[in-house]
Amino acid sequence: MRNNLDKNGHSREGLNAYITGMENSAPEKKKIMPYVKEGLIAEIGCGAGTVLELLSQNFPESRIIGIDDSPQMLSVASSKRYSNGNVEVRLGDATEKQFSDESLDTIIFCSVLHEIFSYNSYEKDFIEKTVMNAYEMLKPGGRIIIRDGVRPEGGTAYLRFKNPETERKFYRFSEEFGPHKVRYRKEHTENSECIAVKKADAMEFLSKYFYNENWNLEVREQFGVYTKKEYEHLIKNCGFKIIYSGSYLIDFLRNKYQNDVEMFEKKDGIYVPTNYPDSTLILAAEKG
Ligand SMILES: C[S@@+](CC[C@H](N)C(=O)[O-])C[C@H]1O[C@@H](n2cnc3c(N)ncnc32)[C@H](O)[C@@H]1O
Repeated sequence: MRNNLDKNGHSREGLNAYITGMENSAPEKKKIMPYVKEGLIAEIGCGAGTVLELLSQNFPESRIIGIDDSPQMLSVASSKRYSNGNVEVRLGDATEKQFSDESLDTIIFCSVLHEIFSYNSYEKDFIEKTVMNAYEMLKPGGRIIIRDGVRPEGGTAYLRFKNPETERKFYRFSEEFGPHKVRYRKEHTENSECIAVKKADAMEFLSKYFYNENWNLEVREQFGVYTKKEYEHLIKNCGFKIIYSGSYLIDFLRNKYQNDVEMFEKKDGIYVPTNYPDSTLILAAEKG
């Protein structure tokens, strides 16, 4: 690892762009606050401390602990002034138990489970172990909150690019996507051309085509590891009772997509405009 690179290989400029992205999405991350149970709260993969600050503002009486395995991210998170001075950060690996059994009131995984998967050979076992450890570290009645990408159910998406830059990025994505080479075919519509590709791959493209600074890292990551149903299944299998599960497309992304790409389904041979895939899942569950 070179000095100016973090554990994943972000350059100094890349790290700054990564942190700015995290901070800009604070209003989106605020949506998980209603599901938090106060007391001892852990955020695993806390990054620059965006969620830690939201927790500090909303739960002034709680003790809040952020864990991250990146010393660079932790140095940013630890230099932050939190509203109520009730935040600590520690170096640690999310896939290992960081707290004793039945000690936590809430454990949060915000935009980290897909990284655990992507940087551990695309093995779901690492996510399953992490969620099972979370169950054991929670007190009875304690809560797990997951906010992450969500994989669409099966099917084919038909994409029509609105500018050459987005089209070029798609061909690059199809070659460079970390988990697999993306297969697609060109189809001729009445007056133009579109790309037929699996919906799940279309979602992965849409989640990352606009990255420039950190493209080489983002293209390695699979953002939608599980469908909503699969996430629910995983959580229930660990023994949790789901109290909220929902997915949606972030407005900021929808606005971007509308400038760059149209999406269709094919019904009886006709290309019909369709919604873009959801970007984000929020799932909250309680230990019985
Ligand atoms: C996309 S950032 C999200 C940061 C924060 N949760 C937020 O939403 O603003 C993901 C963070 O997870 C950390 N991370 C990834 N894999 C990890 C692991 N195995 N253990 C601990 N932290 C990890 C990364 O270093 C990074 O800071």
